[in-house]
Amino acid sequence: MKKLVVGMSVELSLAVPPLVAQASPADDLKAFQSYFKKRFPDVPFDDFVNGVYAVDKGSRAQWEEIEEFPPYEIDVEKGEKIWNTKFKNGKSFASCFGEDVGAIKPRYPHWDAKEGIVRTLEEDINACLAGNGEKPFKYKKGKIAQLSAYIAYQARGKTIDVKIPDDPKALAAYEAGKHFFYAKRGQLNLSCADCHVYYSGNKIRADILSPALGHLSHFPVYRSKWGGLGTVHRRYGGCNKQVRAKPFKAQSKQYKQLEFFHTYMSNGLKFNGPGARK
Ligand code: HEC
Repeated sequence: MKKLVVGMSVELSLAVPPLVAQASPADDLKAFQSYFKKRFPDVPFDDFVNGVYAVDKGSRAQWEEIEEFPPYEIDVEKGEKIWNTKFKNGKSFASCFGEDVGAIKPRYPHWDAKEGIVRTLEEDINACLAGNGEKPFKYKKGKIAQLSAYIAYQARGKTIDVKIPDDPKALAAYEAGKHFFYAKRGQLNLSCADCHVYYSGNKIRADILSPALGHLSHFPVYRSKWGGLGTVHRRYGGCNKQVRAKPFKAQSKQYKQLEFFHTYMSNGLKFNGPGARK
């Protein structure tokens, strides 16, 4: 297995990006997914939702054992309680999201044409609280991640199908997210794509790098390193810090646009959240 020598990115910068500027989102999606299918010909498409465990047989058995007694189980139960707790005004999360919990997750992220922004699940959880006179949760972990885990759990098996509307503003948000994904950053001068596309399956320090295809199927994630749950924006912040770049805030415009692009790239895969990772 090749090792990625951090700081020496000569080989990385010579890599041909699978996505070209001015391509339509549909073209991007096709190129992105076929890249991974070719790179990992032995991995069945549906298995990409399992992240690094889809490409690293060595750690898979251990992870499967963990999944037998999932560390996020208690959080899912706590999330269900949060869902069922009435607000002081007598309303509840169902008043904002509808009664069908399993239908919620597949609606996110989405383009809000009225506001001209990308909307995420976590953002709408807090909008629901604020709209009902309740105190918003902290983004990244804790209650928001528990509620999000319950919502994710109810959507297991549903298909990821993010829509990029044919609206110049929505396309611009998509392009911004795509640019974020391919832009080099931090003192190490590495992009998300360097690690999770071109070097996916290779080792960096003690870790094998997961393919970006399937990244958004299983959030929020219980990480042993965190000793708890975290949202995808918490993970984005961690990955930015790894290259010694300043992370953006959870639910910042930058991370929401990134999530828009990043989730769209996994269209066709099935939700399997919450997940468990190292
Ligand atoms: C220096 C290499 C590196 C860079 C650059 C990097 N990451 Fe990561 N990332 C990792 C490592 C290592 C892990 C943990 C192992 C794994 O699952 O890939 C990880 C994990 C993740 C995960 C969790 C995967 C899962 O299955 O739960 C996501 C999502 C992610 N990265 C997204 C990003 C995004 C988006 C960017 C760009 C902002 C980025 N990463 C940049 C190294 C990197």
